[in-house]
Amino acid sequence: MPDCRAPVAVFDSGLGGISVLRELVRTLPRENYLYFGDSLHAPYGTKTPQEVITLSLQAADRLLAQGAKALVVACNTVTSAAIATLREHYPQLPIIGTEPALKPAVERHPGGRILVMATAMTISERKFSDLREHYQQDAEIIPLACSGLMEFVERGELSGPNLEAYLHEKLDLCLRQPVDAIVLGCTHYPFLAGAIRKVAGPRPEILDGSHGITIQLRRRLEEQGLLKP
Ligand code: DGL
Repeated sequence: MPDCRAPVAVFDSGLGGISVLRELVRTLPRENYLYFGDSLHAPYGTKTPQEVITLSLQAADRLLAQGAKALVVACNTVTSAAIATLREHYPQLPIIGTEPALKPAVERHPGGRILVMATAMTISERKFSDLREHYQQDAEIIPLACSGLMEFVERGELSGPNLEAYLHEKLDLCLRQPVDAIVLGCTHYPFLAGAIRKVAGPRPEILDGSHGITIQLRRRLEEQGLLKP
């Protein structure tokens, strides 16, 4: 059984989870963190659910072998496809997942038009359809699968004409009518928020799910007496 000094493991298909790690370090600065980004096998969003499950179990084994006391799945795609399997494999371990921040978006923009940018897998999996169904009375929810977008982050291309051309192609049609919020449903996308803002203009609020993850992690660690004092 790990003690409270053991690290919190943070896992993503690549660099995107660093947007979550940044928030974790800001909110829970006393914790130790271990980060694994599987850039070698990225992207996950265009793989099959079974492939994502296999890669996620390998990553979790590797992080737990280093004595992690909790696992933050800092990836919407892995959460959609593999979190149930991860929880079955490690029933004692606090495992915190990531989901598109639709709840805060709907609460802040009731009756609004809300765009959810995410990977093809996140959009097509059951978890997202359940979430969408839950909030569809309260707002107009527009899912937008953005295959190829995380690769800009993996390449370190966070601005420039190619990225803007990609974003115009994806967003222009939806932006013909006013959009109130854009939910970044992939942990890579916060690194592209500047470019998304440039293309989407000043109106939409841009939200991501990292703050909710830190709240959940703190709660789970506290419950199990694992929060580092
Ligand atoms: N960062 C990931 C997410 O939050 C996925 C990127 C990918 O591997 O396709 O969904």
